[in-house]
Amino acid sequence: MKTILSIISVLIVTLISMRTDPIKEWKAPTEANNFINPFKGNTVAIAEGKKTYIQICIVCHGEKGKGDGIAGITLSPKPGNFTSPKVQAQTDGEIFWKMTEGRPPMASYKTILNETQRWQLVNYLRTFNTLKK
Ligand code: HEC
Repeated sequence: MKTILSIISVLIVTLISMRTDPIKEWKAPTEANNFINPFKGNTVAIAEGKKTYIQICIVCHGEKGKGDGIAGITLSPKPGNFTSPKVQAQTDGEIFWKMTEGRPPMASYKTILNETQRWQLVNYLRTFNTLKK
């Protein structure tokens, strides 16, 4: 009887874990591509973005933007890696949209940061691009 019960409970646990959907890829809507970065190439904006990044984002995304900040290590999905082609291939508008909307476990920064601060961050995130040059 005990054995049957344990077999049943193993089965139930297996079925429950199979039901969990894989984490869907996070994609910004196409209209985000039309957003215009008002600070493109502006070095002051990059410096301002860095300040905000250190205050808020670094804990999860890490100093070098690799998604390895101390508060990010145990998260699922993992914080985005800003040095990756996957992130850098996105348009400024898509990156802006993602930090505006957020997706758990990352918060939405729509009200926490104003538009200017969010665009400054987009420009700062571009400095993690190891592919350009
Ligand atoms: C609590 C930890 C946490 C903090 C703080 C945080 N993020 Fe995130 N971030 C995440 C996680 C986790 C993801 C991955 C979400 C997903 O893929 O569903 C993510 C994803 C992103 C992405 C999308 C990356 C991709 O792969 O497309 C951007 C852009 C981003 N974060 C920017 C920021 C910015 C800018 C800040 C600071 C204002 C910030 N994040 C603060 C956890 C965090």
